[in-house]
Amino acid sequence: MSNPIEDAMLTAEDAKKISDENYAKEQLKPIFRDAPPYNIMFQKELEDILCFFKSKFPSVGRGRNRIAFSIGKNYIAKIPLNEEGVYDNCHERLCYKNRRNWEYPYARCRMCGDFVLIMEKLDLKVNKKDLPDWVKWVDCAQVGYDSRGMLKIYDYGYY
Ligand SMILES: Nc1ncnc2c1ncn2[C@@H]1O[C@H](COP(=O)(O)OP(=O)(O)OP(=O)(O)O)[C@@H](O)[C@H]1O
Ligand SMILES: [Mg+2]
Repeated sequence: MSNPIEDAMLTAEDAKKISDENYAKEQLKPIFRDAPPYNIMFQKELEDILCFFKSKFPSVGRGRNRIAFSIGKNYIAKIPLNEEGVYDNCHERLCYKNRRNWEYPYARCRMCGDFVLIMEKLDLKVNKKDLPDWVKWVDCAQVGYDSRGMLKIYDYGYY
């Protein structure tokens, strides 16, 4: 992956965190220990992150748990809208890391800080007739083409 941090113009502090996934996992523990229903501490932090992205980048789509912002030509950032979204981001990163154990192609991604997932941007304009058989196993056929024309899954969150 080229440097998504530079593309996104995020801070040097975020850049340091991106390389330390254990740090991110430690930070996430309290969310799951204290849930349900809601962790007020993280809520504030998530709202701040969301405000930051809203003010800087255009949104390219929204699901039940996350909103995606375009952060340059090649990448999007997924920001959690709730705790499921936080978990979805971690799950996608873990799946991507272990991708050799899976038969499906996942869009490249990595965490930036504790909550934000940076993912390669896919072209979501797909013709249903051209899709291979395996897509029927993908939740709502959420697939798109990468910059080389390879079909990949972009939503492989847990929820
Ligand atoms: N890699 C990507 N490239 C381009 N657009 C994307 C990408 N990932 C997500 N999007 C856009 O952002 C939207 C929300 O992302 P995503 O589907 O991952 O969120 P979610 O909350 O997990 O959704 P769901 O409600 O399906 O569980 C997508 O519907 C899509 O429009
Ligand atoms: Mg989705």
